[in-house]
Amino acid sequence: MAKVLLKGGTVVSPKGIKKTDVLISGEKIVAVGRHIHTDASEVNVSGKLLFPGFIDAHTHFDLEVSDTVTADDFASGTRAAIAGGVTTIVDFATQNKGEKLSDALNNWHVKAFAHSSCDYAFHMAISDWREDVKAELEGMFEQGVTSFKVYMIYDAMELSDREIYELMKELKKYGGIVGCHCENSGIIGKLREESVARGELSPANHPKTRPDYAEAEAVRRFLTIAEAADAPVIIVHLSTAEGYEEIIRARSRGVRVFVETCPQYLLLDDSVYNKPFDEAAKYVCSPPLRKSFDQKMLWMALKNNNINTIATDHCSFTVEQKRAGANDFTKIPNGMPGVETRAILMYTYGVKKKKISLPQMCALLSENPAKLYGMYPKKGAIKVGSDADIVIFEPRGSSTIAAAACHSACGYNPFEGARIEGCVERVYLRGQVVYSGGEILVQNKGKYISRKKPII
Ligand code: URP
Ligand code: ZN
Ligand code: ZN
Repeated sequence: MAKVLLKGGTVVSPKGIKKTDVLISGEKIVAVGRHIHTDASEVNVSGKLLFPGFIDAHTHFDLEVSDTVTADDFASGTRAAIAGGVTTIVDFATQNKGEKLSDALNNWHVKAFAHSSCDYAFHMAISDWREDVKAELEGMFEQGVTSFKVYMIYDAMELSDREIYELMKELKKYGGIVGCHCENSGIIGKLREESVARGELSPANHPKTRPDYAEAEAVRRFLTIAEAADAPVIIVHLSTAEGYEEIIRARSRGVRVFVETCPQYLLLDDSVYNKPFDEAAKYVCSPPLRKSFDQKMLWMALKNNNINTIATDHCSFTVEQKRAGANDFTKIPNGMPGVETRAILMYTYGVKKKKISLPQMCALLSENPAKLYGMYPKKGAIKVGSDADIVIFEPRGSSTIAAAACHSACGYNPFEGARIEGCVERVYLRGQVVYSGGEILVQNKGKYISRKKPII
């Protein structure tokens, strides 16, 4: 079995940073320490930071939505992932109405199998809650799907409060967890109709018709349902200060709620929607980008460890696809890319700006998602016995984000031109160097990760 000693680097963990060597044998980490005696080949990583491979627990690859399909499938999406230091993604297998969960899961296996360049797992997004669907849940756990997503919005996906409650109660039997896209569908649906009727059709109307209170109301309702069901839950892609306040209130009542946010909600604001169509449409995602006030609150929440994970909600479309809404913003496919730039953005604008620490970055991007999604300590840790998924991060130097150098098939990057400090220099996926010095060296070697119950 091939052995490699990563020598002289600084290992980052949520507990702190430590100068220590790491011995890899085959796919696993077999020793961590200062004086490892071995015949392994040595790789000098002095001056570098070593992170456990990053996990992006919120991607949508090869998703059919808005009469089109995302620009990134598992091939291009996971190439972008490994270039960004992401060694595991958790994508949303998505049930169409009328469909069985087992068919939806099978569809996602077909999409990912032999095309994924990083390891992958699936949440199950449930759009059609039926007795036979309830009976399928146990089988989902047996197949390694232990987290579920519901939507309070989108005609094709929305579940009622009663259905969400039933799902939560059922998941408690198996130790599973449900995450929610929280936006009030009634208010937003009506605001959008009214906007169109008034002839207000440009992307500037996207944030206006998805106000912060519509997220906050849905967060409050979802957490009230969780309280009634006495179930742990996740709020995905939290974007507002108002929503955050609801989370703090619910926690003070004893609701167990885990929270995810994304770089776009921390670093971009709704002023971008006033740009000309092709530029503005790139940023049309739901929930929409918010105000600097919301960003400040989210950063504060991260600093105080009140947000648990940072994912990306990578859901990419080309500008050509976005033009479906050139005459009506409600027809713009929602979403943007993110999987490749999350870590460098969080390092530059989080760690270097002293808004979060290096150990917090490690918790938010690696250990916490590994625990919440039942993959720890196989993933999310540089520990003896863990998979040798390691990011060699070069903290020195700076560069500029450019879509031309990125791997998403959507052709643009929402952070184009942003100044970046440090870079992902090399990535080990289960002991194999899959990315180094800007080059993808190994593709399509990702494996399905059958997940266990959340560690919460
Ligand atoms: O606009 C977005 N975020 N699209 C992806 C689907 C979702 O709501 O997460
Ligand atoms: Zn969502
Ligand atoms: Zn999403």
